Amino acid sequence: MPIRNVQVKDKFAVTKVAENCAPLLRASVNGTYEFLARCFQRTFFVYLDNSEIIGYIVGFPNTSVKGEFWLYQVAINEKYRGRHIGSQLMEKFVNQVKADGYKRIRSHFQFVNEHSKNLHEKFGFKICGQDDRGWFAEVIF
Ligand SMILES: CC(C)(COP(=O)(O)OP(=O)(O)OC[C@H]1O[C@@H](n2cnc3c(N)ncnc32)[C@H](O)[C@@H]1OP(=O)(O)O)[C@@H](O)C(=O)NCCC(=O)NCCS
Repeated sequence: MPIRNVQVKDKFAVTKVAENCAPLLRASVNGTYEFLARCFQRTFFVYLDNSEIIGYIVGFPNTSVKGEFWLYQVAINEKYRGRHIGSQLMEKFVNQVKADGYKRIRSHFQFVNEHSKNLHEKFGFKICGQDDRGWFAEVIF
């Protein structure tokens, strides 16, 4: 399978994918992805095409709410979108979160982002709120 857990050295490649996704997603700096790779490697997956990272998904627990996990970002290089790569990453992520005993995943995406909305709905997420930029969605197991 072309999906594996992230490694710290992937931080540059992950940043490039994130930058490719602007403005639908706010790319973080290398340092943030390095931190996430060190602390949340278990729920940070990359997708490879011929050894090149072309997508990733990353999330972490909300330590303020017992049993709640957050999906921070899912991102696929533009030319690879619509080929079920996001779905494969989401499946891997959700299965890991479930296996780790969490009861709920929350996420956020922009109002204009129909593709992200469709991906979330495919995995059972329902809209549960909004802020000035977009929707909050959650799936409960
Ligand atoms: C959102 C994103 C991660 C989806 O990844 P993807 O690999 O393109 O998604 P998939 O091919 O798995 O499609 C998922 C669902 O979206 C829908 N979809 C597919 N192509 C679509 C398109 N061009 N426009 C809108 N919806 C579409 C379908 O319902 C699909 O489900 P299906 O497989 O049952 O048909 C990707 O488009 C992306 O990286 N966008 C930019 C960054 C971003 O918006 N990230 C999310 C916010 S954090």
